[in-house]
Amino acid sequence: MCGIVGYVGPQKAMPLLVKGLKRLEYRGYDSAGIALLTDTGLMVAKSAGKIKKLEELLAGNNIGSTHGIAHTRWATHGEPTQLNAHPHTDATEEIALVHNGIIENYRTLREFLVQKGFEIKTETDTEILVHLIRFNYKGCLTEAVRTALNQVEGTYGIAVVSSLHPGVLVAARMGSPLVIGLGDHEHFVASDVSAMLEHTNRVVYLEDGEIATVTPDDYSITTIQNVQITPQIEEVTWTLDQIEKGGYDHFMLKEIHEQPTTLRNAIRGRLSFDEGMPRLNGLNLQYDQLRKIQKIILTACGTSWHAGLIGKYMIEELARVSVDVEYASEFRYRSPILGKNDILFAISQSGETTDTLAAMREAKKRGITCLGIVNVVGSTMARETDGGVYIHAGPEIGVASTKAFTSQVMVLSLIGTLLARMRQMSVQTGQEIIEAMQNIPDQVEQILKTSDQVEKIAREYYKSNNFLYLGRGLNYPVALEGALKLKEISYIHAEGYPAAEMKHGPIALIDENMPVVVIALKDPVYDKVMSNIAEVKARNGNVIAIATEGDKEIAERVNHVIYIPETNRFLTPLLSIIPLQLLAYHIAVMRGCHVDQPRNLAKSVTVE
Ligand code: G6P
Repeated sequence: MCGIVGYVGPQKAMPLLVKGLKRLEYRGYDSAGIALLTDTGLMVAKSAGKIKKLEELLAGNNIGSTHGIAHTRWATHGEPTQLNAHPHTDATEEIALVHNGIIENYRTLREFLVQKGFEIKTETDTEILVHLIRFNYKGCLTEAVRTALNQVEGTYGIAVVSSLHPGVLVAARMGSPLVIGLGDHEHFVASDVSAMLEHTNRVVYLEDGEIATVTPDDYSITTIQNVQITPQIEEVTWTLDQIEKGGYDHFMLKEIHEQPTTLRNAIRGRLSFDEGMPRLNGLNLQYDQLRKIQKIILTACGTSWHAGLIGKYMIEELARVSVDVEYASEFRYRSPILGKNDILFAISQSGETTDTLAAMREAKKRGITCLGIVNVVGSTMARETDGGVYIHAGPEIGVASTKAFTSQVMVLSLIGTLLARMRQMSVQTGQEIIEAMQNIPDQVEQILKTSDQVEKIAREYYKSNNFLYLGRGLNYPVALEGALKLKEISYIHAEGYPAAEMKHGPIALIDENMPVVVIALKDPVYDKVMSNIAEVKARNGNVIAIATEGDKEIAERVNHVIYIPETNRFLTPLLSIIPLQLLAYHIAVMRGCHVDQPRNLAKSVTVE
C-alpha cells in the first residue's frame, strides 16, 4: 500500500527520493508526490497516477535540495486526485507531511480545527494531521508532532519536514511500518527497506508509539509519552540484485522462476534424514510442548490463507492434530474458542498485513502461543511472535504472490512432518517425506520448462471472460490459488471449487466458452476427479488438466494436459501450482495487463 521515503544528508534529494518511490511502486498506489526543502521554502509537487507523471512534472527542475519526503498513495479517504495526493501542507506551507494508515477520529479533529479557523482543502484524513501539528507548533517540530499524535486515534507511519527546521526530519509509527536507514552523514526514512537498500543496509525499525528525530549526523528516538529509547541497529541481508528484475520482463516471472532456489532455501539446514524429521529450532518449543498441542489455528489473508488451507490438509492427516484455518479479518472480531494448549500460526509474506497482525495480537491477549510463518525478517509479525519459521523466499516484488506461497507450503509441510514424528509417524515414513522434499526444487525446475506449452494454451483461452478451477483434497486449495492468480493479474473472473461441489452451482455456467482447469493427479481421488471431468466435457466445457507424468489415459479425455512429476502425495501442491502460476502470467501478458502492479491491489495491505 502507500509508501514513504524521506532523506536528509549531502546528496541531491529529488532523484534519490524518486528512485526510492520507484522501489516502492510494487506495493500498489494511485498517486505520488514529493516535498523538498529549498532556500525559499518548501517545494511540493504531486500528481495522480504513476510516478512517471510526477517525474514529468519535475523534469527540468534542477533543485539542489538535500532534504525532503516523498510518497505513493493508495486511496482510502478521498479519490486518487492530485489534490488528495501527499505530501499535505499546512496553510503557511511551512510544514509538509506524508502519511500511511488511517486517522480514525479525523472527523472530530476536523470539526475542532474548523472551529479554530483552519481551512481544510481536501477530503483526506492526512490533511487534518498536518493542521493539527501546525496548531500544536511552539518552536519544536518533534514536540508539535508528539502533541498532535497524542490527540490522534488510528494508524500511522508519518514523515514530516518543515522549512522552519532545515535538516530535520521527524518520523513516527503506530501500526504502519517505518524504518530509519543509517548512512554516512546521511539518514533515510522509509516504509520499506527496499527504498533505501541501494544506500545502506544498516537500519533501525521504529516500534509502535515511537517518534524519531533525524538529522544528517544524528537521530534520536522517543515515545509519544516522551520516554527516550535506545535504538537497536540491524543489518538487512537482502541485496540490490534481489529487488531488481534481472533480465526478466516482469518481477512475477522472475519470482516464478526463482522457486527452485527459494524452495531449497526453505528447507536448507532444516532436514535431519537420519531422524526422519525436520528441525525447526525457531519455534522455541520443546518436544513435549509440541506433543501437547491440541489444536492449531492458521490465520492469514489472501494467498497466505490458501497456503494455510493446504497446511490444514497436511497437518491433520499427517499428525492427526486438528487445524482451523481462519481468515484473519474474521478471526479478529469473532471471539474464537481457544484452549490453553492451542497454538496460532500467523502466515504472512510481508509480516505487516493489518488483519493478520490484529488476529495474532488478539490470540496473544488470550494467552495462547503465537508463532509466525513469515518472509520479511524484522517485520512487525516476526518481532511480535513468540517464535516461528522464516520462509526465506527473499524479497517478493510482484503483487501476486508466487514464490512466497510455495515456500509457505513447504514450511507447513515441515511443521506437519515434525508434529507427526512427535506422535505416530515412523522414522521411515519421515525419511520418505524428507527425500521427496529434497527432490521438489529440481522437479519445480522441470515443470518450469513447460512454460512454452502453457503459453500456447494461454493463447487459446486468453480472451475468455470466465474460468473455473477444480481440485480435490490437498489440491482444492491449489484450485483456489490458481483462480486467485488469474483474477488478480488478468482481471478475468475466475472461481476455484472443490471438484465435486461443481454440481451444486458452477456447473450451470459450463458451456463451450468456459475453460475449466482441473488438477487431476494420480492420487486416491483420481477416479472421482475423472468423473468430474466427464461432467464438464458432457456440457462442452474445455478442460485443461494438470496431471501426473505418465498418465496417458487422461490425455484422451481432456483438451490439454500439463504433466507434473510424481512426488509424495502431501507435497503435490508444491508442483501443481507452478503451471497455474504460469498460465495466469501468460494470459495477463497477452491481455496487456500490468502484471506486477495489478489495478487496485496492494502488495502489503496495511489498512483494514
Ligand atoms: C495482499 C497481496 C497478496 C497477499 C495478501 C496477504 O492481498 O496482494 O498477494 O497474499 O495481501 O499478504 P501477506 O503479506 O500477509 O502474506
